[in-house]
Amino acid sequence: MDLKKPLISLEHVSKKNSWNQSSQKVILNDISFEVFPGEVISLIGPSGSGKSTCLRCIGGLDTITEGSIRVCGIDYNQKNFAAHLLRRKTTMIFQNFELFPHLTVEDNVSLSLKVVLKIKPKEASNIARELIQKVDLQGYEDKYPKDLSGGQKQRVAIARALALNPEVLLCDEPTSSLDPELVTDVLDILTKLAKSGMTMIVVTHEMNFAAKMSHRCLFMDEGKIIESGNSSDVFRSPQTERLQLFLKSHTSHFSE
Ligand SMILES: Nc1ncnc2c1ncn2[C@@H]1O[C@H](COP(=O)(O)OP(=O)(O)OP(=O)(O)O)[C@@H](O)[C@H]1O
Ligand SMILES: [Mg+2]
Repeated sequence: MDLKKPLISLEHVSKKNSWNQSSQKVILNDISFEVFPGEVISLIGPSGSGKSTCLRCIGGLDTITEGSIRVCGIDYNQKNFAAHLLRRKTTMIFQNFELFPHLTVEDNVSLSLKVVLKIKPKEASNIARELIQKVDLQGYEDKYPKDLSGGQKQRVAIARALALNPEVLLCDEPTSSLDPELVTDVLDILTKLAKSGMTMIVVTHEMNFAAKMSHRCLFMDEGKIIESGNSSDVFRSPQTERLQLFLKSHTSHFSE
């Protein structure tokens, strides 16, 4: 892997919603940034600023109307959309886990190995068990999602996301539906992944995690990147008034 080449690059990406022609809404407004292999990027900003949409576009789950997105050497724009290819390179972790309720922990993790990669059941089971161990859930292989805490469910979702060996992990508020005491376990696993060199973009309201774990931070508001830079600089000395206000309103989540 060429560490000097960006794994992800967005150039002048805009997304206008066409569902209401009379009042077209700009959801993403001229967004450009690059992510290099092994980088952890935090994406922060107020509700409705376009963070999830941006992540979904990078993951090939949503389309853009202007500009271009390049992920792992795959170029696409609104006319040439290779979503199925992107989905193999990137995986998303959602706020609500989205596990299959009728499958055991092990089957949730091994399903894509069997269905997408056509790996034989015995080998898929071995790989799944290793991944389950990686998220500290050994012993839970035969349990169903309903028997797990939110934090445990999210860790299963992370193991499942890792099964296809993605090059980029996209996390959309991975801890925001968890009780406070369960947040740390999930953040610990994400920290472990970040330290192992996984390239990650994390949308988060956990300012401590963003400040400590991400190399760079992007602050979005109204579909635009308002401020970006080295995370320690962004959090210590925000330049724009909008980011200063945003961080102030999140100070209960942020301590040095
Ligand atoms: N399917 C949709 N149809 C219409 N508008 C949408 C749709 N999805 C998102 N939007 C609008 O796009 C804007 C950006 O939404 P998005 O979900 O990306 O924001 P966000 O920063 O992730 O917010 P939050 O912090 O609340 O999750 C919002 O104004 C939202 O209302
Ligand atoms: Mg969102």
